[in-house]
Amino acid sequence: MSTTPMTDSNHVIAPPSLPTLHPMGHLPQARGDILALFDKARDIGPVVNVRMAHVNVTVVSSPAAVRHMMVRHTTNYAKTTRGYEVLRLLLGNGLVTAMGDDWRRHRRIANPAFRRTAVAGFVDTMAASTQTWLDGLPTTPTTVDIAQSMHRLTLEIAGKTLMGRDLTASGDMIGEALETVLPGFASLTKSILPRPWRWPLPTTRRFMRGVRTLDNVVSDIIAERRADPENHPDLLGMLMLATDPETGTAMSDVQLRDEVLTMLMAGHETTANAMAWTLHLLSQHPEVAEAVHAEVAQVVGNAPITAAHIGKLDLTARVFDESLRLYPPIWVQARRTVNSDVLEGVSIPKNRMVFVHTYGMHRHPDLWEDPLAFDPDRFLAERRSAIPSGAYHPFSMGQRKCIGDRFAKTEGITLLAMMVRALHVTGVPGQVVVPDAALTLRPKGGLQMRLSRR
Ligand code: HEM
Repeated sequence: MSTTPMTDSNHVIAPPSLPTLHPMGHLPQARGDILALFDKARDIGPVVNVRMAHVNVTVVSSPAAVRHMMVRHTTNYAKTTRGYEVLRLLLGNGLVTAMGDDWRRHRRIANPAFRRTAVAGFVDTMAASTQTWLDGLPTTPTTVDIAQSMHRLTLEIAGKTLMGRDLTASGDMIGEALETVLPGFASLTKSILPRPWRWPLPTTRRFMRGVRTLDNVVSDIIAERRADPENHPDLLGMLMLATDPETGTAMSDVQLRDEVLTMLMAGHETTANAMAWTLHLLSQHPEVAEAVHAEVAQVVGNAPITAAHIGKLDLTARVFDESLRLYPPIWVQARRTVNSDVLEGVSIPKNRMVFVHTYGMHRHPDLWEDPLAFDPDRFLAERRSAIPSGAYHPFSMGQRKCIGDRFAKTEGITLLAMMVRALHVTGVPGQVVVPDAALTLRPKGGLQMRLSRR
């Protein structure tokens, strides 16, 4: 296969293709190390075809192409991929999976719950859960799987801020059902069967059982709230009272169920990974950890952290931004073209899977100076303004940008400030830390970390 742009019969330039002689194309490598495969595509050009068995997909790695897809021509890049089909089994028509008018209406109703003042109201809950986690650590140095710990902590925070409920408490039916549902996603998206969820395999049956349990419990919670709608200062409470500013209608029970599960899933898995990667980076850069410690000492001292501190923790925020650059939890964004299009001067056919290679763009040598270096100062105001629009997009961009970005940053800053204030974090000698690019970017096999009190 050629690595240079080709002219097709209509005299439109087709994208270059990543060369392969393997009968299955790049599928075996995609199964082994998809990040390295997509990086190779990125190194050939901004828009490159990659063959997976008999299917061609397109990998996109330039800011101009991302702006085109995510900002200017969003309706041509639909969420009709296999990954989203699997997500729809659980999340129904929630904000992540909905499209068109349904999505627009949900987004209008949900927006106010994510404004600055609303998110500020959740800092105390975030801080209280973090304090409980810190208090539970032994007084002597200890080694923990920080990836697992952060999952538990962010799930606790998501449950409490969303519906005032501790999903990590033993016996909590939502927490238990999530444990059966979450591993099911990976096997359903990776399966080679057509529509694997229609096959009566044991993993699928377990997954669907978990989905039914979640359905029932969340529906019961919504019914209880309908009977007593006042005084619930959580996201569900806000979503139940909110109405569409254009039509005046509120969300139905089915819509609320979809949004509760959407916020739960979108809100905890991403933040958990972001926290694990940030602590990993700090363990490798103790001088930055000390600088964060000094900032927290100066801004917060020994007092409980509150919403008023968040905007003043400038370095802490930049450390989180830089961690999202090197390890974006949503490492790729998949779309399918509705109609054919031209991206960066090359033709893309209709019904083509297009992957925005966020991870590769965040480390692209053409876009970043010393791209693999951990340098929070890249996000100092004067340097941040020089980053080309679209080059950095951990929360996506355009109309489908993450609704929870402020919530996530507030949570990241709160947790980081409290953890660095209380702990020294160091890596475990000999541990090889590699990212696993599944639905989110996780540390492969967990992430052991040594924690000792300051
Ligand atoms: C570090 C943490 C997070 C990261 C990196 C992140 C990243 C993203 C990205 C990249 C998207 C776009 C996905 C796509 O269109 O393909 C997205 C969408 C979304 N995120 Fe987040 N997210 C984070 C935290 C959160 C939190 C805390 C919540 C809720 C509490 C949340 C709720 C959502 C929702 C509802 C959408 C769909 C928005 C729409 O299409 O209107 N996210 N997120």
